[in-house]
Amino acid sequence: MIRKLLLLAAENKALEERVSRNPLTKGLVSRYVAGTTLDEAITVARKLNAKGIDVSLDLLGETVSELEESAAATDAYVDTIHAIAEKAPGATVSVKLSQLGVALDQSVCAGHLKRMLAVADQCGVTVEVDMEHSSVGPQTLATYRTFLPSFPHTRIAQQAALRRCQENLISFTEVKPRIRLVKGAYRENLDTAICNADEVTAQYLHLTDWVLRHLPDPAFGTHDSTCIDHVKAVANQLGLDRRDFEFQMLYGVRRNLQEQLAAEGYRVRVYVPFGSQWYPYLMRRMAERPANLLFFLRSLIGG
Ligand code: FDA
Repeated sequence: MIRKLLLLAAENKALEERVSRNPLTKGLVSRYVAGTTLDEAITVARKLNAKGIDVSLDLLGETVSELEESAAATDAYVDTIHAIAEKAPGATVSVKLSQLGVALDQSVCAGHLKRMLAVADQCGVTVEVDMEHSSVGPQTLATYRTFLPSFPHTRIAQQAALRRCQENLISFTEVKPRIRLVKGAYRENLDTAICNADEVTAQYLHLTDWVLRHLPDPAFGTHDSTCIDHVKAVANQLGLDRRDFEFQMLYGVRRNLQEQLAAEGYRVRVYVPFGSQWYPYLMRRMAERPANLLFFLRSLIGG
């Protein structure tokens, strides 16, 4: 119930304005967001690199309402890719296709993604495509598929909660995708997704077995110890090396565990968001931790 309310709040523009201008939010934002500028994000990336942890930089922003905004976001991503190549080698970029205009014009979005992929390829940087709400999921997947043969290193997130998840994974027959398996962070209908948390975890464990057996270099985007221990156990049974897959976690969440896994010899990548459009991202993080509801109410009343 609380999760649903926070996810509804994530979509509300009036609340966005109210929460964004409340100084109470500042501390919480800085826990989950690296800063507003690319330089700040690069500084965070280097600090994590020094601990043996890789990063994926995410320029915050989603669901543009004008195509000009999607072109500007693409330019900013191209700058980010160049900065990575120069100052933080090994980092990837994570992008939401709604930010490149997938909901407005799929072919324009595909043009932007192609430009990003070509620049990233020249710079030796990998692009990771986030998976958003199921209203743009099929378009996102179709756009990714178009470019997979030419840019096979590109990674795509897949949400275990979605009923179609396994079907989607099996549907890749020619080039096998590199995926990031996550539970799923969006408010979805029961027809589309499993909504019970324990059932989502069970499905995550089931898909982990399949993914480790069938897909190259998978990433597991989770902070759930049950899921992490399961990945370790199955990989061990299959005789995989600790570097054959990676754990991915969000900036600001379970930092000790991130360092512990890196110290154990696993590859760890932290998703580092930066930029000024942090509201929907922050609300999804709140929804994952209902204890944060109190904060949210305070910022509403105090704003
Ligand atoms: P779960 O929510 O059960 O959390 C396990 C434990 O982790 C909690 O008990 C708590 O200790 C800690 N924790 C989790 N979230 C927290 C938070 N916000 N604040 C504080 N503690 C927290 N989703 C999506 O739909 N599309 C996508 O593209 C992505 N991409 C993505 C990338 C990466 C690198 C990660 C780690 C996650 C995503 N997600 C995502 C989000 C994902 O779907 C999911 O919502 C969160 O990872 C939370 O689920 P967990 O698997 O961590 O389990």
